[in-house]
Parts: sequence; structure tokens; C-alpha cells
Amino acid sequence: MSREATAPPELVIPRHVGIIMDGNGRWAQKRGLPRLAGHRAGTENIRRVLEACVEFGIPVVTLYAFSTENWGRPPEEVRGLLALLERSIDRETEHLHRNGVQIRHIGRTDRLGPLFCDKIAQAVALTRNNRRLILNVALDYGGRAEIVDAVRRIVSDGVPAEAIDEALFSRYLYTADLPDPDLIIRTAGEMRLSNFLIWQAAYAEYYSTPTYWPDFDREELLQALKAFTARERRFGLVKQT
Ligand code: IPE
Ligand code: IPE
Ligand code: MG
Repeated sequence: MSREATAPPELVIPRHVGIIMDGNGRWAQKRGLPRLAGHRAGTENIRRVLEACVEFGIPVVTLYAFSTENWGRPPEEVRGLLALLERSIDRETEHLHRNGVQIRHIGRTDRLGPLFCDKIAQAVALTRNNRRLILNVALDYGGRAEIVDAVRRIVSDGVPAEAIDEALFSRYLYTADLPDPDLIIRTAGEMRLSNFLIWQAAYAEYYSTPTYWPDFDREELLQALKAFTARERRFGLVKQT
């Protein structure tokens, strides 16, 4: 990951990319393997994609690792997937730290177990001064839960109704000091957000690829960035001629 940012000069680099890492189960099924083998391949793929993000000079990346809805999967899949994610924190933190990556967590922590939470807190503390890339790990994350949390904190802070506007509301979200995502990538072909960054992605560009997450590589990321570069973002305005 030591390469300097080397995005081809014609690419427009988003300030923040969100990635919905989907298709681990189908990747495994296609190979006649158990779903957990897909999750293993999926967690192992994170390093390769983050290296490409650093190479292209993307400043902020949010990875959707586990949703508030994913608790509803069979208990052995939930246990296995969370164990794999916990292990990737063990395995990757030092490497990410050496490469200037600041690790953050967005989502709830009360259901993850104290050991897992400690590991997350340690990774966050160790890497807090890194500036090359901010990696947000969305783990036990749900956009609606995030909005409900924000409303609760606004109320408990006694903020008067007339002081509440979009800027204030954004500051109460988990992503308070970060730019909104410019690009949301979803692997495995589905055309939905599945409760990911639903407030922040209001004006994001969407890119969906049929490739399953474990096969998503640098070249696929480059394709997504090229598609983003070709988009005309209008933000509700009329095109200037
Ligand atoms: C993505 O892969 C991982 C998580 C949602 C946690 P899936 O497990 O959703 O894979 P598919 O969608 O069943 O193929
Ligand atoms: C979204 O994928 C959640 C993550 C990638 C963590 P899902 O596989 O859970 O989404 P749905 O069920 O297809 O909407
Ligand atoms: Mg899925």
C-alpha cells in the first residue's frame, strides 16, 4: 500500500465512496461452498480494495460490513460472519496503521460484545491521527437507527425546534465531520440501498456491478470511478451551457 496516489489524470475522484459489499453468499454458492466461505473471501478482499482506494487517492471510504437487519440471519451465519470481521480487525489494523489509514466505526456497539468493542476502540485510538485515508466501518449500522439516534440526542440536548436545520441534523449523525458520499458502489447487482447512509447519500451517484464482492478488484473500482467521472451531477439545477 506504499504507492502514492496515482489516479489517472482524467479521473474525477469522489471525496467519499460508500461500498455495499454484497454477494458473498452467492459467490460461495456458485462454487458449491458454505456461505461462510464466501464471507471469508469477502473479508479477505477488503485489503485489496482499500489498497486501490489509497492508490487512487480517495480520501474517505465507508464499507458496509454488517447491517442492523443482518442480525435476522441464521445464528451460525451471524456468529461466523462477526467472528471473521473481528479477526480482520486483528489482522489488518497494524497494516492499515502503517499505511496512514484512520479507522472509524459507525453503527451500534451494544450488541457486538465487549471484546469486539474493545478491539474496535483500540483500532480507532491507534489510528486516530492518520490522515491518508479515513476508513469508516459500518458495523451493526442502519441508516434509520442512525437517524433515530440523532433525533434522540437532539431532543436530550434540548435543541429548540427553530434551531434544527439540515446542517445541524448532519452534525448529529455518525458521519458528523465527513463529506457526504459522492459515490455509492454496490456489488452483486442489486439496485437498493438496504438502509445504508440513507440521509448522507441523498445526492450520491449510484454504481451497481454484477460482480460479487470477493471478486471486486482494483480494475472494478477503476470502472466505477470512470462511470462516476462521466456522470453529470446537477443537484436539482439546470445545466449551465
Ligand atoms: C454480503 O454478502 C455480506 C453481508 C450482507 C453481511 P451476502 O451474505 O449478503 O451475500 P448474498 O447477497 O447472499 O449473495
Ligand atoms: C447489505 O446487504 C448489507 C451489507 C452489505 C452489510 P444485504 O445482503 O444484507 O442486503 P439485502 O438483504 O439484499 O437488501
Ligand atoms: Mg446480500
